[in-house]
Amino acid sequence: MTKRSPRTVFVSYEELDDVPSNPSSTATFGDIVERRFSRRRVLQGALATTAISAVVASFPFAESRAAMGSGLTFPEVEHGVDETHHVASGYEADVLIRWGDPVLPNAPAFDPNNQTAAAQEMQFGYNNDYVGYLPLPLGSDNPSRGLLCINHEYTNEEVMFPGIERQDKDLQFADMTRALTDVEMAAHGGSVIEVERGGNGKWSVIADSPYARRISGLSTPIRISGPAAGHPRLRTSSDPGGTKVIGTLNNCAGGMTPWGTYLMAEENFHGYFTGDIAGHPEERNYARYGVPANWYGWGKFHDRFDITKEPNEANRFGWIVEVDPLDPTSTPIKRTALGRFKHEGAETIVNGDGRVVLYSGDDQRFDYLYKFVSEGRFDPSNPVANRDLLDRGTLYVARFDADGSLAWLPLVFGTGPLTPTNGFSSQADVVIETRRAADLLGATPMDRPEDVQPNPKTNKVYMALTNNSKRKVEQVDPANPRGPNLFGHVVEMSPPGGDHAATSFGWEIIVQCGNPNDPAHAAVWNSATSANGWFAAPDNAAVDHRGNLWITTDQGTNWSRSGTADGVWLLETEGELRGTGRMFFRVPLGAEMCGPVFTPDDETLFVAVQHPATDGVADYQGRGRGSTFADPATRWPDFNDGMPPRPSVVAITKSGGGALGAG
Ligand code: FEO
Ligand code: CA
Ligand code: CA
Repeated sequence: MTKRSPRTVFVSYEELDDVPSNPSSTATFGDIVERRFSRRRVLQGALATTAISAVVASFPFAESRAAMGSGLTFPEVEHGVDETHHVASGYEADVLIRWGDPVLPNAPAFDPNNQTAAAQEMQFGYNNDYVGYLPLPLGSDNPSRGLLCINHEYTNEEVMFPGIERQDKDLQFADMTRALTDVEMAAHGGSVIEVERGGNGKWSVIADSPYARRISGLSTPIRISGPAAGHPRLRTSSDPGGTKVIGTLNNCAGGMTPWGTYLMAEENFHGYFTGDIAGHPEERNYARYGVPANWYGWGKFHDRFDITKEPNEANRFGWIVEVDPLDPTSTPIKRTALGRFKHEGAETIVNGDGRVVLYSGDDQRFDYLYKFVSEGRFDPSNPVANRDLLDRGTLYVARFDADGSLAWLPLVFGTGPLTPTNGFSSQADVVIETRRAADLLGATPMDRPEDVQPNPKTNKVYMALTNNSKRKVEQVDPANPRGPNLFGHVVEMSPPGGDHAATSFGWEIIVQCGNPNDPAHAAVWNSATSANGWFAAPDNAAVDHRGNLWITTDQGTNWSRSGTADGVWLLETEGELRGTGRMFFRVPLGAEMCGPVFTPDDETLFVAVQHPATDGVADYQGRGRGSTFADPATRWPDFNDGMPPRPSVVAITKSGGGALGAG
């Protein structure tokens, strides 16, 4: 998500004053690229030195997946910004479901002028981020019928509600009422919908599906499991046992497990809390997470979001939530063994020995990459054995070393500095204060780790690092080689022998984002990348079933730096074209591109268009101000004067059929 600034209206957390004025900020990059950039490809960019080219030329192209052919087959979409979406020629992009559309049976028709929490709890929520596809029946590879599991990350009140505008120096939307606040809360969470591809090749939502479900921030009870369950630091006045919380919030990306459950990653949970931190019993803990951030005014109407009134509620957010989408009556579970931080996502892979490995980035500037290795083993024939795999195992944090190795440091109570001397009395304390534990272990502060995506074809793992405008020249390191890093980069990690449980990996940077033809960007791409093929602010990622890596971007308000709206790009990772990007889809003005996921036949790519009309529209064509409900910069996707812009899930298929990016 785009972060909200506590200070300035319509300028994101990535403040505009971070634009570099000093080109010498990249002075050390040449040395670093020589050490840590892949040596297998031709580099393009200001720092593709002769020395590097010589190394490149001497290395063989020996990747296995390359033999399958590159996915770079589609005509490119051009960089640009306008009021609607664009997909590569020869492909079709159809809106499948929009904010306010019915999810549950008997959901009332969407009426943007008369919203209620009761209606919103039956309708599709706001800001769709993660999208997972679960083929039906469970265990099949059905590419034409399945469940879509969709996160609703946050809300944009200024374009959701008539008459609600952001107040200067007060992003709490002072005019919000209790009733509208409850609509906001109900618009958070997730949706499970059943979808089907018809004979005409088009997708539709199955009305009144028995699987249909809304999970909301307002009302859904969620169980807490794992080492922190029941701990005194999780107990509240309404839950003295510390095992049940209402709602899940800021669900950004996520993942689908091998056993068919849906993981929702709680990211910027700090934004929902208000109150006074000075002298608070959780002051050190909360300060490390930015609690309270005062983005919303929920604490005015719900005491639990005021840390002064309910001191432990903020410890009950920042977790991974596991949902069984096949049972709409099941209680979702917050799995505390996976740690508490601003989880971007939660992608899993079954290791060769059957253990499950889950990767998750902590999306904040200078925060860390984590993985969890289960103690038990995945058993496809025994669903009961898999049910609580995410409750027991080892959580690790990453340290990227200059020699190209990556050390996974265990976050285990009683080992190293994680002892009572440093305020940890149990594993519960370690997971509640995951960030502080990782600080003590010496993890590498990264440039905002977003989606972390394993490629089952190659066993490589890809991490999107979106940007870090605050990294200073003296803070660069081999894994984060630009200061400031305004455009982000993509890191490839290599488990030895494909062993995702190993405690040492290899790593290298695939691309350094930004415009390779602008020396000030210090961008590095394969020279085959066109003027539209480079991107900025990589965020979410998907690997198709042939092993192609697709990246989506979230530039926030900073898209004027690149001159293009966000979108989907294919990033070649193998062979001679490794490090080449190509633009496949572009979102409308002010939106972010999320949720890429392929059906098992790779014939459909579902994507999620978040917050159209919001980010950076003040900069668009001299508009000079942001969007409001009455005057949004775009009314995508309906383009109907009575209808506000609506976050929507889009299904992309090839005209006439066939896999995306094939042939
Ligand atoms: Fe919700 Fe890191 O984006
Ligand atoms: Ca994101
Ligand atoms: Ca992903």
